[in-house]
Amino acid sequence: MRVVALANQKGGCGKTTTATNLAAALAQLGHKVLLLDNDPQGHATLSFGFRERDFTLSTYDLFLTTDILVEDAFLEIEPGLHLVPAGVELSAVEMALAREPERDVRLRDNLRRSALPYDYILIDCPPSVGLLTFNALLASGEVIIPVDPSCYGLQAVRKMRETLTMLRQKKGHDVVPRVLMSGFDTRPLFVRKIMEELAELYPDDLMETIIHHTVRFREAAGAGLPVARLDPDSRGAHDFRMLAREVAGKESLVAVPALDHWTALLHGPQVTKAGVRFEADFPRARSVRLTGTFCNWSAKGLALAKREDGIWEAHLQLENGRHQYRFIVDGAWLPDPHNTETVANEFGGANSLLLVP
Ligand SMILES: Nc1ncnc2c1ncn2[C@@H]1O[C@H](COP(=O)(O)OP(=O)(O)OP(=O)(O)O)[C@@H](O)[C@H]1O
Ligand SMILES: [Mg+2]
Repeated sequence: MRVVALANQKGGCGKTTTATNLAAALAQLGHKVLLLDNDPQGHATLSFGFRERDFTLSTYDLFLTTDILVEDAFLEIEPGLHLVPAGVELSAVEMALAREPERDVRLRDNLRRSALPYDYILIDCPPSVGLLTFNALLASGEVIIPVDPSCYGLQAVRKMRETLTMLRQKKGHDVVPRVLMSGFDTRPLFVRKIMEELAELYPDDLMETIIHHTVRFREAAGAGLPVARLDPDSRGAHDFRMLAREVAGKESLVAVPALDHWTALLHGPQVTKAGVRFEADFPRARSVRLTGTFCNWSAKGLALAKREDGIWEAHLQLENGRHQYRFIVDGAWLPDPHNTETVANEFGGANSLLLVP
C-alpha cells in the first residue's frame, strides 16, 4: 500500500483536482484506492457530488476516536474507489487535540489499524501547514506537490520542501517529494521559463506528466464527477491517465527487489583499482545519487551515470574502514538492494554497509 499526500500551503494550486482525478484514474487502472478528504473545505467530497447531509462519519472521526476506522466511514464512489468525506467540523481538530500527546500521528495510527486492502491512499490536504497537513505527511511515504505557473508557485514549492526537511530532521520521517506542474498552459513564454526553472531546481523530483490548463476541470468538479467521467476523450482525462501511469510506474523504484547471491556478487559494491565501484539497477529512474557517511549524508551526494545496459554506476575513492551509504533514486532514499550488509539507522530504516579492507 502506498500513502500519498497532496499538499501545498498555497491555495488553489490544484491539490483537490489532482487528488480526485488521480484517485479515479488509478482506480481505472484496476487499483483499489481510498481518497481521504483532509480539508475542512470538503472540496474533494463535493467534487464527487456528496453533501454534508450524505454522511455522518468523516475524517474528523478518524482523528478524534480510536474505534472508528476507515471501514466505518468510507463512502463508495464506485467499486475499488472509496472516499472518507470531510466537512467543516474538521477545522475543530486542532483545538480538540491541543492537549493530546502524539497528536501529529493520529491519522497515521488510525490508518494502520484499518484492515482494508488498498493499493493507494491519497490524502487531500488544506492550503496550510498545520496539524492536518502534518498528520497527512507523517502518514505518507510520498507527497505530490502541485505547482501552478506563477512566481508564488515556485516559492510555495520551496516552502514545502523546507517542511519536508524539517520532518526528516525533527521526526526522522522521510517523505518522497514529487513536484507536479498543474494548470499549465505551456504556450506563453513566461510559463516556459517557469518550466525550465522547475526542471533546473528539481531535476530529481519533477514529474514528467503535465496537467494542462483546461476549463473541463471546473466543469467536472461542478458536475460532481472526475473529468474522465465527464469527458473521457478530453485533454484533462488524458493527462490524468498519464499521471496515474507515471505514479504507478514509480513503484518499482520503491520496492526493493529480492536479492540472490549472484546479483549481489554482480552488482554489490566492488573494490577496484579505480576506487569502489557502486552499481544500481534502477532502469526507470531519471537520476541516481550516492550519499553516505563519507560525504556527511549530503543530499547532493555523488551522481551515478547510466551505462548503455541501463545500470547506474559510479567509482569513488574511499578510505579503509566502514562506510554507510544509501542511493537517492529520483529523490527517494533507499538502501542498496544488492548489498545484504545493512545497519539500522536512527529513522527506523536501514543503511547499507560497506567495509573497505
Ligand atoms: N488544470 C487545471 N485547469 C484549469 N482549472 C483548474 C485546473 N486545476 C484546477 N483548476 C481549477 O482551479 C481551482 C482550484 O483548484 P483546486 O481546488 O484543485 O486547488 P486546491 O489546491 O485544492 O485549492 P485549496 O488550496 O483551496 O484546497 C478550481 O476551481 C479548479 O477547478
Ligand atoms: Mg483543495
